[in-house]
Amino acid sequence: MKLNIAVLPGDGIGPEVTQQSIKVLKAIAVEFDHTIVFKQADVGAIAIDKSGNPLPKDTLNLCKESDAILFGAIGDPKYDNDPSAKVRPEQGLLELRKSLGLFANIRPVKAYQNLLEESPLKTNIIEGTDICIYRELTGGIYFGEKKLSEDGDTASDLCTYTRNEIERVTHLAFKAAQSRKNKVTLVDKANVLESSRLWRKVVTEIAKQYPEVELDFLFVDNAAMQLILNPKQFDVILTENMFGDIISDEASVIGGSIGLLASASIGENYALFEPIHGSYPQAKGKGIANPIASILSAGMLLEHFGLQEEANRITEAAEKSLELDITTPDLNSDNTRISTDNVGDFIEDFILNPIDTNFNYTNIHLGQSTII
Ligand code: IPM
Ligand code: MN
Repeated sequence: MKLNIAVLPGDGIGPEVTQQSIKVLKAIAVEFDHTIVFKQADVGAIAIDKSGNPLPKDTLNLCKESDAILFGAIGDPKYDNDPSAKVRPEQGLLELRKSLGLFANIRPVKAYQNLLEESPLKTNIIEGTDICIYRELTGGIYFGEKKLSEDGDTASDLCTYTRNEIERVTHLAFKAAQSRKNKVTLVDKANVLESSRLWRKVVTEIAKQYPEVELDFLFVDNAAMQLILNPKQFDVILTENMFGDIISDEASVIGGSIGLLASASIGENYALFEPIHGSYPQAKGKGIANPIASILSAGMLLEHFGLQEEANRITEAAEKSLELDITTPDLNSDNTRISTDNVGDFIEDFILNPIDTNFNYTNIHLGQSTII
């Protein structure tokens, strides 16, 4: 297969983690005889610095011409601390999602067996957790009308949803549940919000088309609690844009690090793959950022094109790195020697040569060889 990938590394740790994914995808291309062509473009704060625009036209055009987009991260503290800034890096990502119609954001959350101790939650609570969050991505309060009064003392953000916006992501969530544990939990605030009541109505109607899938409802405040009290009750979580943003960060605690959570943003014509973590500017250039979320996002990219075996190879390699403790300091505070690059190198090597890599890596690649 030939794939043209637009690479948008963005800000902070975005470039260094994305670099690892490129390395890993190149290894997959060699191993499975595919051609993957990467073309890079600016987005976010770096694009504002260069052109004043967080999503330059050339970047959007490149995305539209490509088969898929590999996204790093965006955000810069100089904008976070300036509420009056008219142009913000995040607008680049939001505009990209909207312009490409990426309405469904899929975020898998898993408790890895050998990382159970890394989570601040108790092992018996998280062991066996396997959730997939379907977050609506192009509607709701993120994209509703925004107002600030003339005197600057009153502000509002409108949360709007249409039936069609709810339907399309709901179908994807139910289809996903069919190949998982046949359960969908709709997370909303239907006791207060009109938009949530529309979600309940539409989702209940659609559920009739999937009789084997059990549909459950939770208010978002309760869901936030249930997620860390009893995460195993969940299979597919379906929710609107902002609730999905919040609960997916919360859910990352189950896996032990936000540096592990991958995501796919899917629309009718385009697909973008990105780690859920932000730009983590404090870590930029230090080699401590965890590249696994980005690498697993690259795996989701392959899966999107039906390359299941290739995607599995990435997952296996990433899980092997976790098993052998070849991990960045977010997962391994005693071990500060293993860098972002080292993790990427291991995963690349494992894809190219699983048997040897498994056997040799800890000794040779970390400079502890007893052979020389
Ligand atoms: C995410 C991020 C974005 C969001 C920001 C960077 C706009 O937090 O992808 O979860 O809120 O959607
Ligand atoms: Mn977020």
